[in-house]
Amino acid sequence: MDLPLTLLCCLITLLLVNNGGIVQGSHDVFAQLRSVPAVDVTQVHRTAYHFQPTKNWINDPNGPMYYNGIYHLFYQYNPKGAVWGNIVWAHSVSKDLINWAKVEPAIYPSQPFDKYGCWSGSATILPGKTPKPIILYTGIVDENNTQVQNYAVPADPTDPYLRKWIKPNNNPLVVADKSVNGSSFRDPTTGWLGPDGNWRITIGSRRKHRGVSYLYRSRDFIHWTKGKHPLHSTAGTGNWECPDFFPVSVSGGLDTSVMGPNVKHVFKVSLDETRYEYYTIGKYYPEKDRYIPDKGMIDGWDGLRYDYGNFYASKSFFDPKKNRRILWGWANESDSTEMDVKKGWAGIQLIPRTIVLDPSGKQLVQWPIEEVETLRRNEVQLRSLKLAKGEKIEITGITAAQADVDVTFSFNSLDKAEPFDPRWDKYDGQKLCSRKGSTVQGGLGPFGLLTLASHNLEEYTPVFFRLFKAQQHNKHLVLLCSDASRSTLMDDETNMKDGRDAYRPSFAGFVDVDLKDKKLTLRSLIDNSVVESFGAGGKTVITSRVYPTLAVYENARLYAFNNGTETVKIESLNAWSMSKPLYMNQ
Ligand code: FRU
Repeated sequence: MDLPLTLLCCLITLLLVNNGGIVQGSHDVFAQLRSVPAVDVTQVHRTAYHFQPTKNWINDPNGPMYYNGIYHLFYQYNPKGAVWGNIVWAHSVSKDLINWAKVEPAIYPSQPFDKYGCWSGSATILPGKTPKPIILYTGIVDENNTQVQNYAVPADPTDPYLRKWIKPNNNPLVVADKSVNGSSFRDPTTGWLGPDGNWRITIGSRRKHRGVSYLYRSRDFIHWTKGKHPLHSTAGTGNWECPDFFPVSVSGGLDTSVMGPNVKHVFKVSLDETRYEYYTIGKYYPEKDRYIPDKGMIDGWDGLRYDYGNFYASKSFFDPKKNRRILWGWANESDSTEMDVKKGWAGIQLIPRTIVLDPSGKQLVQWPIEEVETLRRNEVQLRSLKLAKGEKIEITGITAAQADVDVTFSFNSLDKAEPFDPRWDKYDGQKLCSRKGSTVQGGLGPFGLLTLASHNLEEYTPVFFRLFKAQQHNKHLVLLCSDASRSTLMDDETNMKDGRDAYRPSFAGFVDVDLKDKKLTLRSLIDNSVVESFGAGGKTVITSRVYPTLAVYENARLYAFNNGTETVKIESLNAWSMSKPLYMNQ
């Protein structure tokens, strides 16, 4: 290491230690680092087809929408450095959700009602002869983090890219009353229209340790009145960030105001304390403005998650072009703040996903938007290939560091599934995955893929299934794991997460899947430092961020493997190299 770099590292370490990482929202605040400009932007580990700006920090996707033939993505962005801070609403536009062009930041601190920050929010398209977009966002008004809700509108709605946004003088629109915790009052949702002709929005908050999503109503989208009771709240869940509330059906996406007999509602929150997102499916009663999760739904930390890995602060929107609901989520880095400053960048947006209701009505199903398939090149195929105990096969002919792989495994019998020890927590797949991993021999499984693997498996991120049999109920449990514990040879000290241990979790989630046809499917989107995996057609999804040192670019490899005693068959495997979008002018 040369001298200036050594000095920079020492300085960063010192600053990290001194600052102690004050948490604001769910973000650690390193006041002295937030305006340290990115000098050299490290390319290795940058993604090729995931959305990320050329440098600096990003977090939540904001206000996604489709308007006049263009998709808009706004996002929380630090224009001055690679750690959280100085947040503005950066803005990019696209015709296909794959190729993106940067335009100027839409919203940045400038007024008393947002002088200390422009935090997350949503867009609503107000209907009418000429429908018009309106953005609601959280403004920070003082050093105590007091939060209010503001609006912004396009200066020229006929500009196809909506480059300039105005924050009218009658802001703020919503100020916390005395009953509301003013420093935990943020992230307004897209508005929906009730049958009484009034708009509604919901805003994340907490009352002591109870997570709360307040409801506000308005006739004109400008004057808002707080409902007598919140739309929803749950004891013991801590602060609720980035709530999302929308209708779903089995057949496709629905615009946010749709209600009706075949419609259910989804309520999602980002839990500050766990940094995961949880959702329930339930019924919305517009007359009372109450949302009640369906019977059997777990409304809290053991509940359903959009993603059992690195995925946070997501937002969905209705895409009228293809009649679908699209979900955008942010993946933070899993490395240290020190490394982020050195790399000059942090955070990516994941590939947008379509979400529909599973026919069971008990969960959502997610799938990467079809547009991502336009990046597929050099298809390779495998058919009907047996993997006996301990076997693995390399998938060659594609760029394994930048790939899309879709595989269907089959097996003859479930008899060898390992017994599920009743003492294990059936909600804590991660603990089970870290105990068993991909190498401890099982009965049926572990089988799956070794992604971002180096030649001699010094490094790899396995994504795999393990099957268990719960004796009492004669029921099978399917666990999907995405295990970062062996993903890198980087030494622990370099990769320490803000003074804590290196963060290489064995992410895992159970998959509620019918095993009648004795098949399991797995699709992984691999992109240099991210692996997004969709189990059983998108019933369980896991995202991992990993930083291999050997398995980079053309040195990365991809394998299918089986470490269970029962032979499994690759019914079909299709894999592609993924090209870079033509246009990512970030
Ligand atoms: C979630 C969050 C939001 C907040 C924003 C600030 O990641 O903490 O609650 O509005 O980020 O950047």
